Amino acid sequence: MSASASCKLGSSHLPLEEIRALFPALLAAPNFVFFDNAAGAQIPQTVLDAVNHHLVECNVQRGGRYAKSQEVDETLARARESVAMFVNARDPAEIAFGMNATSFIRLVSLAIGQNLADRRQIIVTDLDHEANVATWLALEREGASFAWWRMREDGTLSVRDLEPLLSNRTRLVACTVASNALGSVVDVAGVAKCAHSAGAEVFLDCVHYAPHGPIDVRQFDCDYLVCSGYKIFAPHMGFLWGRREALDRLQTFREDFIPNEPPSKIEAGTLVYENIAGMHAAVLYLESLGKRLNAGTNSGSRRENLVRAMEAIREYEAELTAELLHVLRDTGAVVYGIRDPARVAERVPTLLFNLNRLAPDVLVEKLASEGIGARDGHMYAPRLMRRLGLSENAGAVRASLVHYNTFAEIHRFGEVLRRLAERA
Ligand SMILES: Cc1ncc(COP(=O)(O)O)c(C=O)c1O
Repeated sequence: MSASASCKLGSSHLPLEEIRALFPALLAAPNFVFFDNAAGAQIPQTVLDAVNHHLVECNVQRGGRYAKSQEVDETLARARESVAMFVNARDPAEIAFGMNATSFIRLVSLAIGQNLADRRQIIVTDLDHEANVATWLALEREGASFAWWRMREDGTLSVRDLEPLLSNRTRLVACTVASNALGSVVDVAGVAKCAHSAGAEVFLDCVHYAPHGPIDVRQFDCDYLVCSGYKIFAPHMGFLWGRREALDRLQTFREDFIPNEPPSKIEAGTLVYENIAGMHAAVLYLESLGKRLNAGTNSGSRRENLVRAMEAIREYEAELTAELLHVLRDTGAVVYGIRDPARVAERVPTLLFNLNRLAPDVLVEKLASEGIGARDGHMYAPRLMRRLGLSENAGAVRASLVHYNTFAEIHRFGEVLRRLAERA
């Protein structure tokens, strides 16, 4: 398989061969098609180098009075600054590192559950990953009540449907930025406007959206936002952004000698330093992509370069999405969610579908035997599968692409699907 040389996109230009050459896993398996990126993306060599450097040069505890330990402190500070830049935080102290997104959602939900007072209602959605649903439903023990913001038949959440659910009893709206199953993107700034006018907070699950477009917590105007590094070309780790005042109010577990302020009040115990070093390198990778795209113009600030990279990624991925929709339509697949190529701006290149009478697990095994990695099942969104009229266990098939995927890969995927559809 060869990557198409590059993609001309209006005014932008994504240098695909250069990009793919930076990812050792893509070089090591040139004939394998990585279409399961929603479950975890590949990492650039520079991320691997950063992890390696940490483990070889400074694999010690932070907070010591010797150079190697001080280097760990510096790594954490640098990573916090980079991630703050990535999400456009006002202050690096608003970023907390940890294990994964789910444990952060649980941490924030437990803290909120401790002081519901007279705002006991939490709004959850039937589009979300279960990590951003079950964690909130568990607050029933604390006396929380729930309202369901239901997706529309086209797989989107409309802010107009949220409005009537909000009242002076609503404590928080928990929703995704993009669906990890259907790929639909939510108007999260609209959610925040609406929720804040009712005096409620907004918790955003940005795990699935993060590799696909610019994140701007100021523009989103949310109160909390969570991401997983391993979806954004970094190792397995997660981070939480919280509005400073919101984090200040949270009651979290900490030992008495740990300062009661962010980020330390959110980061109990020892972190996986090497993975945080890798997260910093992943932000640098995106930044250097932005710089590369800005070449010939005055190179921008770190944030400007990041935004440039993520906008170019979003633009290129819209073309990938349209192509994938055409290919799936030609095979006769049933696509769930937005399927009109004219509406690609409302989604990311994550497509859920079923093909003829082929069971999802059988189809995904056949794809695997052809060197294509996709996923079948409920995508950790069993309620959504039921809503789509699918069996919770069998679910459907998901192809999830990121910016290093190519049109050539989509065409190969399409050929395999066509052959399978004919035989089924
Ligand atoms: C949208 C979404 N939310 C939450 C999660 C859970 O993330 P983590 O594995 O970091 O806990 C995932 C993981 O796939 C996801 O896609």
